[in-house]
Parts: sequence; C-alpha cells; structure tokens
Amino acid sequence: MYEERIRRTELSQKITSAENAALLFRDNMVVASSGFTKAGDSKAVLKALAARTPVPPRNITLITGASLGHNTDGALAAAQVLHKRMPFQVDPVLRQQINAGEVLFTDQHLGESAELIHEKILPRIDIAVIEALIIEEDGSIVPTTSVGNTATFAEAADKIIVEINMSVPLSVYGVHDIFRTGVWPDRQIIPITGADTRIGRRSIPVDPEKIVAVVLTTTTDSPAQINAPDEKTSAIAGHLLTFFSHEIQKGRLQRSLRPLQSGIGKVANAVMEGFLDGDFHHLTMYSEVIQDSAFNLIDAGKLDIASASSITVSQPCYERVFNNFERYKPHIILRPQDISNAAEVIRRLGVISINTAIECDIYGHVNSTHIGGTAMMNGIGGSNDFARNAYLSIFVTQSSSKANSISHIVPMASHVDNTEHDVDIIVTETGLADLRGLAPRERARLIISNCAHASYKDELNNYFTEACRSGGHTPHLLQEALSWHARFQQNGTMLKTVHE
Ligand code: COA
Repeated sequence: MYEERIRRTELSQKITSAENAALLFRDNMVVASSGFTKAGDSKAVLKALAARTPVPPRNITLITGASLGHNTDGALAAAQVLHKRMPFQVDPVLRQQINAGEVLFTDQHLGESAELIHEKILPRIDIAVIEALIIEEDGSIVPTTSVGNTATFAEAADKIIVEINMSVPLSVYGVHDIFRTGVWPDRQIIPITGADTRIGRRSIPVDPEKIVAVVLTTTTDSPAQINAPDEKTSAIAGHLLTFFSHEIQKGRLQRSLRPLQSGIGKVANAVMEGFLDGDFHHLTMYSEVIQDSAFNLIDAGKLDIASASSITVSQPCYERVFNNFERYKPHIILRPQDISNAAEVIRRLGVISINTAIECDIYGHVNSTHIGGTAMMNGIGGSNDFARNAYLSIFVTQSSSKANSISHIVPMASHVDNTEHDVDIIVTETGLADLRGLAPRERARLIISNCAHASYKDELNNYFTEACRSGGHTPHLLQEALSWHARFQQNGTMLKTVHE
C-alpha cells in the first residue's frame, strides 16, 4: 500500500532496495541523515551502507539531527566507514573509536548545526537519507517521529534518498510544524509565543528532481530504555518538586509553571513522573525530546501541550501512542531542532530546563560530556541551547556513584560545557542549591553543604578553605584542583582515605 504514501506517482519508479541505494555512496562523501534521539532515523540505507560488499565506502562525514537508533552508528564505525561524525552520538562502538582518535567528532549545540549548514560553513552535503511518512504530490516530505535537521538537509543536499516507513501510522500527518528562519541578512523572527503556537507547514519542501531513490521499510524506532525511578532519582525529583512549590508560594511561578524542557535519562524521567502526583496543572513542554513521562502526564490530564523535535519512547509506550495517535495528536508538535532549541524562543517563553551533569564543581560549572576531562561520553546535545537561555537552568546528578568511588561534586570540573553563568540550580539526592544571584564563594558553600555526598564533604570544605587562603574571586589551588580525577585514575576512587 505504498501508493497512499508516495503521492507524486512518478517517484514510485525510483523504488529500490536499500542495498541498491547504498551503491550511490562514494568515498569521502558528506552524508546527512534524518534522526533525532533514535527517532525517525534511517533504518535501512545506512545499515546497508555499513554492510556493503565487497567494501563499504570510506572516509564519510556523517551529519544527523542527533543520535541514531538500531546501533547504526556502531555498524558504520565497525565497518570503518566514518571519518567524521556530528553533532551528537550515543553509540558505545563509535564512542570507543572517537576516544581512540580514529573517528573525528564535532560536538555541537543541536540548535546550531542547521545554521552552520545554511551559512555554508560545513561542507556541502552530497546525499541526505530521510525517513518519511509521505511524499506529497509536490515532492515535499512529511517526516515521521522526528524532524531534527531534516528540513535543512532536504534544502542543502545534492541528492536525497527517501525511506518510506510503512510502520508509522498515517494519523501522524499533521503533527509537524516546519518553519525556516531564512538566512542573514533576511533572517526572520520565530513568532512562537507559547509552546502550542504553530507557525509552519505540515511537510518539508523538497525539489523532487533531487530524489534519486525511494526505499520502503517497516522497521520501527529503537525503543528508549527507561529505568524506573529509584531511591536517588526519586529524592532528586522530590527536592525539585518542593522547590517548585516554594517558588509558587513566593508568587514567582504559577501552578502551570513555565514550559518545561527535560533531558533524556532516568532522573529527568523521575522528575517528570513526579508531576503526576504534585499540585501542578496545565503544564506545557518546550523541549527537544518527548518521552514516556509526557504521555503519562497527557493521560492524567496534567500536560496540555508538548512541543519538541522528536518522540522517543519505550516499546510499550510506542505501541500505546502510535496505536492511538489521534488521541495524542492535539497535544503534540514536532519542530525542526533549530526551532525547538532556538535561543530566541526559549528565552521568550521562560523555559524551565532540566538536564543531567556528569559532574559539577563547587562554583557551579557543569561537565556534561567528558569522563575524566578527556573521554567523550555522548556530546553536549541541546543542554546548553536550553541552559544558556532558560528562565531556570537546572542540572541534576547523583552526589556520588559506583560505591562512592566517584564524587559528582568536585573542586574543579575536568571539562566545562555549561558555565557558572548558565547554571541556576544544582540538585543531587542530598539536596538542592539555588545559585541565583550568588557570588562564587557563596555558591561553593551552598553546593558543598546541600549537594555533596557525606563522604566527600570534609575534603571539599578543606579544599575550599585552603583555596580561600590563597585568595581570588573564584579561589582554587591549581596543584590540587584536578587531583581528585588523577586519584580516580590511579586508585579507582576519588576518596583520599578508603573507609572500610
Ligand atoms: N567519572 C567517571 N565516570 C563517570 C562520571 C565521572 N565523573 N560520571 C559518570 N560516569 C560514568 C557512569 O559511571 C556511567 O558509566 P557506566 O555506563 O559504566 O555505568 C556513565 O558515565 C554514564 O553515567 P550515568 O550517570 O549513567 O549517565 P546518564 O545516563 O544519567 O547520562 C549524561 C548522563 C550527562 C552522560 C547524559 O545526560 C548526557 O549525555 N548529557 C548531555 C546531553 C544532554 O544533556 N542533552 C540534553 C537533552 S536530551
């Protein structure tokens, strides 16, 4: 029944297998692919590219919206296809190659790649692979479960391969809101004044002459792994919900709060689930990913609208949502990622942003990307698009992990993605530090007191006291600032004295 999805009938003649489409790629090409947090990605063509015989192409630069599902990044990395990858990834095989220096990785604000492509700062895209729900009569493409950078890729690529995903129900039509800002000096304002504002088209304009192949697939998105809230994540959620209640009492927020952005992960999920029981109503989201918790809040009548760039949910939630999409559609808007993550809109709406830190230092600098200051984890993603511009920028982390061998509150962050200027609130299971309006020395006292694990508190206080003796606006002991990380490398623990 592909006919109802390929409405420009001449394109039916371009239907081919993923293996044949994979023959179109050559060494050194710049390839773009739809896909954002494992949703709406290429499921057939990129996999066939990795498996191409006798040898797949080499030296490929791959640009996406964000992470790909189905271990596609890993398959491409293992087949030694990749030279460079941007702007985000989460794959263990690719991560290992990035950290070995075998694949170059450009870790980019997710809201910024579109601009770099439109301004021709990034190299020209040879082929874009785009997952689609429908190709319209005019050749325009209706995306599936994400928009990501697809509108930009469709405009900028020389050739386009479309993957029609027959498994995504046609009821998804109408959920997308495609708006382009244009380029300087004629760039337009983004006239979004609420998370529910629709400003664009239902489909992505495409020159049909550029479509060189159409591949049919039925593979669904990789399901998200959602870990159930545990003691620590529930405690973090509890501190945050109490904080929001206090802000309401002080008249700074209403029960609808302000549009919420939450990163992926078990803490963010626990916080969002916490809204189910709290006295919050008519919540909205202006985020980059819509996760299980958003659909639970919609079902509970607590969340009015969720605007993002993708829907990334667990398997049971996927079935629930896509078997009843008409029920959820009025509550969902999917936008290009340069719109979901636009500084202008995030600032105007007063977004409350909640993201996860790998570590925070005593002054509030946040490392979101690097283990031990050197090894890439995933990438900055959209965390700083939101943190820099949000009304409230919140970072959550456990105070310690791996049997207390890692303190997530450290004297100096070994890498900084979100600076003290962009971080308003830090929360661990031990407590919450509201850093707004505080000077570095005030911040340090509050972070150590409220957020550090008991087994690290004395050492952090000793460090801070000694550093203050040496003076400075942001006191540090340069010989010791990163000694905790060095100790972890040497001894497998940041603790100075290992308690039995
Ligand atoms: N030192 C050494 N290892 C550390 C560490 C530290 N300071 N902090 C974390 N790790 C390790 C953990 O032990 C874990 O290792 P494991 O897989 O062997 O157990 C791994 O790093 C991941 O840590 P975890 O706490 O399980 O991470 P998470 O799933 O909660 O994700 C981020 C946390 C920061 C990696 C993740 O949120 C991220 O990539 N953020 C950046 C992108 C982003 O924020 N996007 C915004 C919106 S989606």
